[in-house]
Amino acid sequence: MSRETYQDNTINIQNVSAYYNNHPALDNITLSFRRGEFAVILGPNGSGKTTLLKILCGLCKFQKGSVKVLGQTPSSYNFLLRRKIAHVAQVESIDPKLPITVRESVATGRAGTSGLGRPLKKSDWKLVDTTIEWIGISHLADKPIGHLSGGERQKTSIARALVQQAPILLLDEPTASIDPNAQKDILDLLEHKMDLHSFTTLYVTHEISMIPNRCDRIVMLQNGKVWADGKPDELINEEKLKELYGGNGFCCSGKFSFHHTHH
Ligand SMILES: Nc1ncnc2c1ncn2[C@@H]1O[C@H](COP(=O)(O)OP(=O)(O)OP(=O)(O)O)[C@@H](O)[C@H]1O
Ligand SMILES: [Mg+2]
Repeated sequence: MSRETYQDNTINIQNVSAYYNNHPALDNITLSFRRGEFAVILGPNGSGKTTLLKILCGLCKFQKGSVKVLGQTPSSYNFLLRRKIAHVAQVESIDPKLPITVRESVATGRAGTSGLGRPLKKSDWKLVDTTIEWIGISHLADKPIGHLSGGERQKTSIARALVQQAPILLLDEPTASIDPNAQKDILDLLEHKMDLHSFTTLYVTHEISMIPNRCDRIVMLQNGKVWADGKPDELINEEKLKELYGGNGFCCSGKFSFHHTHH
């Protein structure tokens, strides 16, 4: 079955190349994602994962090919489309000096829905507070965002993305600084939310042992190309991962408690 035959316009990337100073970050990529799909994107540093996610939300330009998200071409000016995409960036650009609290920062995730500058409804604040609780940062709700640790800041970003309730969720190593227990809780929450809302999720990670059960597809990037694309059972094994990340020193022993095979 070809991935391009999906009768679905959630995400369609056709022959896309993106360059930074003549160096291709993405090199002729063709990929489609169905509504409700939970795809994990793997690949070594510099393979193009962040560039791919940024292109999808209009934060990065591409020079060749075509990109459609929900039938539209992403661009930094396409606000209507951007509201439908929740993005947790690898490096958050939010200014830590902004005089806002964690709760207020999470609430900005609702701004696209209720309208920027308009007061949020009671139901919006309720969603903000339950999400903050689920993510495990209630105790930080009134803290200024500039006073957070790296992991706390990441949790705030995830909460903000979740309250957006967007049909597309792009997560760029969202739990990289979060401790293992909290990571597991957040991934469980994510799966639960996906079951409820069936949004499409692209999840970039280097934490192979933490890939959630709900993940139904693995896309492996290498040097800006799609190197492999398939089911987790086919691709999450020592041999493939060694090949993907290269190097003989890659140690996998006991690391892959990939849940799929155990359920
Ligand atoms: N702003 C930029 N200017 C110039 N080159 C860039 C820029 N951003 C990324 N690149 C280059 O593009 C390529 C892809 O980078 P990208 O950030 O997409 O990789 P990645 O797969 O997300 O890596 P990582 O796992 O380290 O986050 C790399 O070679 C990188 O050096
Ligand atoms: Mg990256």
